[in-house]
This record gives sequence, structure tokens and C-alpha cells, in this order.
Amino acid sequence: MNITIQETVRLARKLTCAALLSLASGCTTPGGAEPQAEGLPRLCEVYAHDFRIGVAFGQGLLDSSDKATRTLAETQFNAFTPENEMKWGSIHPKEGTYNYAPADALVAFAEQHHMAVTGHALVWHRESPDWIFQDADGKPATRETVLLRLREHMRAVMGHYRGRIRGWDVVNEAVSEKDGEWLRDSPWLHALGEDYVETAFRLAREADPDAQLYYNDYNLEQPVKRDKAVLLIKRLQEKGVHIDGIGLQGHFTLQSVNTDEVAKSIETFSAMGLRVNISELDMRLYAYGDEENRYPNGAPPELLAEQAEKYAALFRVFVAHKSAIDRLTFWGVHDGLSWTNYDPVKRPDYPLLFDRDGSPKPAFQAVVSR
Ligand code: GLA
Repeated sequence: MNITIQETVRLARKLTCAALLSLASGCTTPGGAEPQAEGLPRLCEVYAHDFRIGVAFGQGLLDSSDKATRTLAETQFNAFTPENEMKWGSIHPKEGTYNYAPADALVAFAEQHHMAVTGHALVWHRESPDWIFQDADGKPATRETVLLRLREHMRAVMGHYRGRIRGWDVVNEAVSEKDGEWLRDSPWLHALGEDYVETAFRLAREADPDAQLYYNDYNLEQPVKRDKAVLLIKRLQEKGVHIDGIGLQGHFTLQSVNTDEVAKSIETFSAMGLRVNISELDMRLYAYGDEENRYPNGAPPELLAEQAEKYAALFRVFVAHKSAIDRLTFWGVHDGLSWTNYDPVKRPDYPLLFDRDGSPKPAFQAVVSR
């Protein structure tokens, strides 16, 4: 073989760089990868210089025999959010009863594959069991009782995962969608009053001073809702409440995704000193309010092409703002595992980068080549 010393040195440097980049980004090397995953570019490697690429899934994936989807999750992503297993109703279904096993298994899986874990979600108007807000007779519990329960929940759950969770969605979806209403109607608002968001952040900081703390919400690229969230966060900051970042959920639709407004939200929250996560990314083919089952046998190619263009445009915005963004997390590994298949009605939707077989869609190619 005729290879010069300079060429050998250049090659060695190149290989070391690739290995270091892969290690630093937490992208794992597939062991016995399934054919679908082999030879595919890996999102977490493609974006290793920009931000982490995360994914949400639940215990079902670990329990299933679907090794191909697990391989996809392991190889494409370097961040993870448990889809439901850390929500209050799942992890703390009754007073004094904690159900850690499903979330423990997911965190162990994520650690094994070097995925940074986000805890989701401590305080939310949904999936908060009634017992939190009731006394022994089923009447509304006192503010003090609810506060004690919240403190105990945070100490227990955040304490259980201390050192293993990079950051928590402390409060999810507190801001109202309704005109003229600032905070949404929520059992937390009823029980604790308007400062419940502040209280939640203070208790979370107390429970794990090393974890990053996030406010997470959807439609924050819509100007009116963005302004309400800005006000909420300004008030926290004025009171010296610790908050590290914001989760822009990013549940988009093909019809409504607006990259200029997404850019504006990233800039607005970043200018307030927050780190930005795109925390629950997907893009439905259906417009809001459309409840027909239009594509029962597969998505029309022209819509998949449009989706690919719109994902690419979004990723151009994300990369242009990479200094503000820590993580983009897809809400589901592939189309078959998305919540959009049963909300608002049961019918197939096609919101992610991989199809139901785990094969890359046009949107994957577009995101990779941008
Ligand atoms: C919200 C929640 C997520 C998930 C999605 C879709 O965005 O934050 O945990 O439940 O809805 O169901």
C-alpha cells in the first residue's frame, strides 16, 4: 500500500475527531443494529455541533418485541423524555404510594444509551389525581395540605432521580388559551392561587438544586400566548425565582406552522436569559379542528413532500438559533407511536420523521440534508 506519512496523520486525525464528536454528543454505536437503522445518517450525529436530538417514548417500547424501533431510538437520539411515566398520576397514584418501576426502567435504558434525560412533568392541570386536592371526606383540601403534598411529591420524585435527570419540566401548560384569561383554569390554581407557578419552582429548586428547571407549554409561537408566558416568567424573575429554561412544545400542524413566529419565540425567551428546548416536536398532517379520517391507508406523497419542506425550514431556524437551543425532542420515535393517532380522534396521522416501519420519510431526508 502506498500511503504517505502525512496522509496517515490526516486520516488518524479525522477518525479521532469523528470518535470524539460521537462520544461528546452521546450518540451510541449500534450493537447488532437492525437493517433499517444500518447505513442511515444519525440525527444526533448530524446535529452534534448544534443541539441534542431527543425523543419521547414509554414503557411499552421496552416491553415490546419491536427491536427495530428500539434500535432506532438508541441510534438516532441522544436525549430522552419519558412520555407518561413521570406524570403525577403514574408515578404517585395514591398518597404515600410511588410507582417508580416504569420510569426507572426508562431512565436506565436512556443512561445505557447515553441519552440525557428530561423529567416530565411535575405540575400540570391534567393527570394530577383528585386526591391531591381533596381531604378525607372528599371536600377541597386546605391550601396548606396541598402545599405539603406538592413539597413531598417533589422531594420524593426529584430526590429519587437526583443526579440522573438533567432538567425537569416543573410546570406544564399554566398559561391560558382564552382571550382575556392569563392563567388557565386548573386545580392547582384553585388550590394554591395565582402564585402556584412560583411556589412550584421554589419547591423544585429546594428538592434538587442541581437540576435545570423549565416552564413547558404549547402554542408559545402564537403572539398572544407568548406574551402571557413572557409575563409569567418576568414575574418569576422579578421575584428571584430560579428558572433555567423554556420548553416550546412544538406540536405543529402542516397548515399552521409559522417559522417566523417560532424564530421570534426563540429570540424572545433567549433574550430573557432562558435556555430554549423544543420539547415535544411533531407536525400533524391534519389542521386543528379537522376530525375526518382522510388518510386511513397512508399519507399522500404530496403532503409528505410538503411536510419535508416545512421540517427543513424549521430546522434551518433551529440551526440559525443554535446558540440559544439545548435540545429538540421529537414526541414519538415513529408515526405509529404518536399520540396524534388517538387525539382528537382515533385515526392514523403522520407527524414524525420515520414511518410505521421505522423507515425514514422524506422529512427525515430533508432534516438531514436541510
Ligand atoms: C402535552 C404533554 C405531553 C403529552 C402531549 C400529548 O403536550 O405535555 O406530556 O401528553 O400533551 O399527549
